[in-house]
Amino acid sequence: MAERLATRYRTALVTGASTGLGRAFAQMLLAEGVAVWGTSREAGRLADLAGEHPGAFHPVVMELGDAVAATRSFREAEQAAGGFDLVVNNAGYGVFGTFADVDFSVWREQLNVMLVNTALISHLALQGLRARGRGALVNVSSLAAEFPLPFQSAYNMAKAGLTALGESLLIECAGTGVVVIDLRPGDYRTDFEGAVRRPPAGQSDARLPRVWAAFEKMMRGGPPPEEAAAALRRALHRGKSGTVRCGRFFQAVVAPLLARFGSLPLKRRVQAGYFDLD
Ligand SMILES: NC(=O)c1ccc[n+]([C@@H]2O[C@H](COP(=O)([O-])OP(=O)(O)OC[C@H]3O[C@@H](n4cnc5c(N)ncnc54)[C@H](OP(=O)(O)O)[C@@H]3O)[C@@H](O)[C@H]2O)c1
Repeated sequence: MAERLATRYRTALVTGASTGLGRAFAQMLLAEGVAVWGTSREAGRLADLAGEHPGAFHPVVMELGDAVAATRSFREAEQAAGGFDLVVNNAGYGVFGTFADVDFSVWREQLNVMLVNTALISHLALQGLRARGRGALVNVSSLAAEFPLPFQSAYNMAKAGLTALGESLLIECAGTGVVVIDLRPGDYRTDFEGAVRRPPAGQSDARLPRVWAAFEKMMRGGPPPEEAAAALRRALHRGKSGTVRCGRFFQAVVAPLLARFGSLPLKRRVQAGYFDLD
């Protein structure tokens, strides 16, 4: 590849840079010469990245559950960076359980973190990007926006909503010089499944343990996060707005193709088998 991403993107914000995909995205951008402001809820979780990349990696404490505090964190980091050329909305987590049994406050919090306040960061980011007429916004959605994960209802809602936001922004930003990428990863081997919250109370569906086992196996067998970072690097080098699916060939290529040309009931049947729901 001819030029490094730093020629196009001088500065970047990556939310959820402490582990998994976010850390791999931050490391990829640093290797491309981009100065990265990376977030975590705990500064200590970013200390090694800051130590390895002095002057290039800047830790930012950001709790996405708190809109006021997240806005403050974003503004302070933006000012320190002299504006962001690239914003990657990556932070997120799973909650596994039946919709009726898990207390609604848990679902509300997840939607708040992964949809409402992630949209807020997109809003703040676009103010700077639009003013400069260049740069990129990447929202890390999921193939779950197309293929909902069983017993992860708010996760599916958040990702479908984020993808809908991406589609809206693709239209709005056309011709402005700002690139909008809706990144939809399949399963990658990160801390995600370890961090999934599984509220214990009143779980009434006997399929839960089977589905969890299938989900866990899929996540553990996924490719390493560096492969998602390579997909993002290619998309940023292309510099075009659009949807980027990445992950295992079956998940990212075959399944969306079958879903497009097959019927919805067939898609649901195949998916039920995939998650051992039958
Ligand atoms: N792994 C996959 O297979 C996969 C597939 C499709 C989509 N995704 C999406 O990719 C993104 C990253 O997932 P991952 O697999 O890398 O998960 P991960 O390893 O568990 O990392 C999640 C990141 O999100 C941050 N985070 C969690 N809750 C937060 C909150 N309330 N406020 C601010 N930051 C918060 C965490 O930061 P701290 O804990 O340090 O605060 C951490 O850096 C998520 O949006 C996920 O939905 C993942």
